[in-house]
Amino acid sequence: MKRLVLAVVTLVVVATCYVLPLAAQDAAGEGQKVFAREKCAMCHNAKMNSLGSVGTTLTAEQIRQWIENPTEAAKTSKSTSKMKMPKKNLTKADVDNLVAYLQTMKAS
Ligand code: HEC
Repeated sequence: MKRLVLAVVTLVVVATCYVLPLAAQDAAGEGQKVFAREKCAMCHNAKMNSLGSVGTTLTAEQIRQWIENPTEAAKTSKSTSKMKMPKKNLTKADVDNLVAYLQTMKAS
């Protein structure tokens, strides 16, 4: 019986060691997935509307506003762009992760 308990405990400990790092995957990594899933790159890529240094030019709050309320953000930034940033229906977690990801975008 003792052996069985020991075996189960060992199994749980080993399994936890594998699962925890997956669960703790960083927000920026998740944000990158949301960026791909939502096809942000259709409009934001090296050729147009580059977000390549958005982590330097905008604060986290400003990035969040662009994602959550692009119309307001365009007004606030006095944008003269003819192209408009669309509003997407995202969960709070998606937005948080996107903001974390975009904050890592800094011009090298
Ligand atoms: C249909 C094209 C399109 C898509 C799709 C799109 N955007 Fe945009 N986005 C724009 C345009 C155009 C602007 C600039 C708008 C303006 O100046 O009024 C912009 C602006 C932004 C800005 C502010 C950039 C800056 O330097 O001021 C951020 C941040 C942003 N978008 C993030 C995203 C994210 C994240 C996604 C995916 C969820 C996304 N966009 C999807 C067109 C798009």
